[in-house]
Amino acid sequence: MPNIIIIGAQWGDEGKGKVIDIYAPKADYIVRYQGGNNAGHTVVIGKDKFVLHLIPSGILHKGKICVIGNGVVVDPKALLEEIEMLEKKGIKVDGRLFISNTAHIIFPYHRKLDELKELVKKNIGTTKKGIGPCYSDKVARSGIRLADLLNDEVFRDKLKANLDEKNPIFSKIYNVQEFSFDAIHEEYTGYAKRIGKYACDSVVMLNDAIKKKKRILFEGAQGTLLDVDHGTYPFVTSSNATAGGAMTGTGVGPTKIDKVVGIVKAYTTRVGEGPFPTEFEQEMLDLIREKGGEFGATTGRPRRCGWFDSVVVKHSVRVNGIGEIVITKLDVLDDLDSIKICTSYEYEGKLYKNFPSDIKVLSGCKPVYEEMPGWKKDTTRITAYSKLPVNAKKYLKRIQNLLETKIVLVSVGSERGQTFSNI
Ligand code: GDP
Ligand code: IMO
Ligand code: MG
Repeated sequence: MPNIIIIGAQWGDEGKGKVIDIYAPKADYIVRYQGGNNAGHTVVIGKDKFVLHLIPSGILHKGKICVIGNGVVVDPKALLEEIEMLEKKGIKVDGRLFISNTAHIIFPYHRKLDELKELVKKNIGTTKKGIGPCYSDKVARSGIRLADLLNDEVFRDKLKANLDEKNPIFSKIYNVQEFSFDAIHEEYTGYAKRIGKYACDSVVMLNDAIKKKKRILFEGAQGTLLDVDHGTYPFVTSSNATAGGAMTGTGVGPTKIDKVVGIVKAYTTRVGEGPFPTEFEQEMLDLIREKGGEFGATTGRPRRCGWFDSVVVKHSVRVNGIGEIVITKLDVLDDLDSIKICTSYEYEGKLYKNFPSDIKVLSGCKPVYEEMPGWKKDTTRITAYSKLPVNAKKYLKRIQNLLETKIVLVSVGSERGQTFSNI
């Protein structure tokens, strides 16, 4: 297997964790490149269910090297909890987990700012993990990176400068308590002692590995429509979840990438606020949410659900250069009499075949659907494309035609074995 980027092609939660788990055996390195513990990637192995937030899902495969790239924002508390969870389940992390020295660190004031902003404005529905405020500091050039945390002199200076700037915001604007330098310094010095061993120059590590013909799997988090540039801004996350993010977020150049694989749910979901043209009415929502278990893997929030939207996924194919597609959760549609596919939008008498960038237009768009008969058969035990009901094949073929991109894998359940290729 060459070097592959795995991308969420909708609003996240497409089943990237499951797909990474399938691709991982053929990779040497599995690398996260953006986001942080706002992600929740589920991998089901027999009776065991793992939800990974920060550590690449490849950690579940013995001997694989897992890297948290420079583009990721790392909450050390969350990281240590995740390491503990894995070790309790008998998965050794030491010697296999590496974190870029230049990854930015999430602090309690980031989480608090995230929470307060949501409380006051309530307009994005973030995960409240401090992701946005940490990336804001990165871009404002005041962030604290892993290398800074590991050098006490630098850490003290930077933490002081950050608190000098932020504490008045807490006390004067939000009327809440200021953060204590000593408390954060003590807490984070403790983390530094525990995570220092994972720090590395991941740019050199990954590029050396590529020179030695090692295979890299880039594990995207979130989804294209949550990308800060290409998503439904401002209802997005604060990083580039798209394929370009894999380059800036790891320091691997685009000439080293062989393939971009888009992960696409057979319908659509989204957590948090923002436009969602194909969103279901209550009855369908209840049905699909229940059958698909559509509750957030990180926050437990119920996910919004809707019909498959080809305008959204075509946009994803375009901005990521997706060459192959994996369809997940086809089984969730098993019981339906008929299934709708959105092929374009209509807004004030005008037809939109491409994803509109004006959020006002997008918010007012009405989906134009075509309808196909359902297959009304259980697909969860199917192990080959040829054995799928005819109408399920027709549904997949129609999606493939609309996206002009090959479907290489189909998933019909959360377990490893519930996947087949050969469409
Ligand atoms: P990710 O963030 O993209 O990794 O996706 P999540 O883990 O947040 O959400 C996907 C959910 O769907 C998880 O609970 C998976 O176990 C589950 N899942 C993945 N593929 C399938 C599938 O083909 N069918 C069904 N029914 N569930 C699936
Ligand atoms: P995975 O990797 C689904 C959403 C949040 C919110 C918006 C901004 O599991 O697919 P943030 O906390 O990032 O500032 O929130 O982005 N969001 C996700 N939705 N899956 C995710 O990750 C998400 N990560 C963030 O719900 O709408
Ligand atoms: Mg998820």
